[in-house]
Amino acid sequence: MSYQIGVIPGDGVGPEVISWGRKVLEAAGKRGGLDLSFVEAPVGGTAFLETGKVLPEDSLQKLNESQAILKGPMGRPDIEAGIVERDGILTLRQHFGQYVNLRPVKLFRGLEAASPLKDNLLKDGVDFIIVRENSEGLYSRMGGINATSGTDINLFTEKGVTRILEFAFDLASKRGKDLISVDKANVLSASLFWRRHFDRMAAEYSDIKCSSQLVDSFCLLVLQDPSPAKWDVIVTDNMFGDIIADEAAAIVGSLGMSPSANLNPAGVSMYEPVHGSAPDIAGKGIVNPLATILSCALLLRYSLGQDGLANDVENAVQAALDQGLRTIDIAAGENACTTEELGAAVLAHLA
Ligand code: IPM
Ligand code: MG
Repeated sequence: MSYQIGVIPGDGVGPEVISWGRKVLEAAGKRGGLDLSFVEAPVGGTAFLETGKVLPEDSLQKLNESQAILKGPMGRPDIEAGIVERDGILTLRQHFGQYVNLRPVKLFRGLEAASPLKDNLLKDGVDFIIVRENSEGLYSRMGGINATSGTDINLFTEKGVTRILEFAFDLASKRGKDLISVDKANVLSASLFWRRHFDRMAAEYSDIKCSSQLVDSFCLLVLQDPSPAKWDVIVTDNMFGDIIADEAAAIVGSLGMSPSANLNPAGVSMYEPVHGSAPDIAGKGIVNPLATILSCALLLRYSLGQDGLANDVENAVQAALDQGLRTIDIAAGENACTTEELGAAVLAHLA
């Protein structure tokens, strides 16, 4: 099989982590006999400074012709906050109809000490997955700002709610796991609308144990007990998913360990680390490449249907960590390894 992967290097540490992601995909492709080609498509702050456009036409065309997209973090301190986010990240997600944002939360063996939680809370591991609605809610881009007020409309449509819940029910069904919906139905109309659809569909998926949790309560309970016995598949709206994903990243030791997949189950999907462009450490060769490498595992799993290769990449990450390699986000100063040492170790295990 031959596939074209669109590659967006992004800003800050983006080009560093993306180059390792690409190497890992190349190695996995070789291992699995896949014919992968890569086409670079600049999008983001650097593209804006060079071309005047955050998302240049030419890049969009290359991405349109690709079967999957590997995306680096975007944003630069010399560009006003919000421009790259709106014209780059959110526009890409909307253009490609990527209505699911999948964020697996997994504690890798050996990283317990990097978590702020006590050891006894981590003894059974942490392994849940956040299914974040990725196109509506407070991100529907309705509203605006003037001299006296700022407004964002928290819009949920029947189509938007049904498709994300269906995805989550199917995922829970495949994993043989429970499904928990996180909302704020005691206050927000949009959440109440979501909850009514969830309850209706829960009755249809009688094989899955379903429950709802208010978002404030979820944020508390997941810190008190993050174990797999308690949390499997979490489905939630766009804004709550954004917040919960960062809280969850802290639980498993670092934002540098958190991958994500923006999925259009019937179209082009885009894979990116959850972390940002980290301009303070850019170009120093010390950024953690694992969030991007784990995003590549998601690309293999969800866009190329290569579960075996995806598992191989995840196992290679664990094997590299087992060697004691830790970047600066996880290990203190002199004990930290470089991006290259960690990336090369993953590649060696994959080979
Ligand atoms: C994320 C980020 C983005 C989001 C921003 C940068 C637009 O925080 O992917 O979690 O809010 O979705
Ligand atoms: Mg975020």
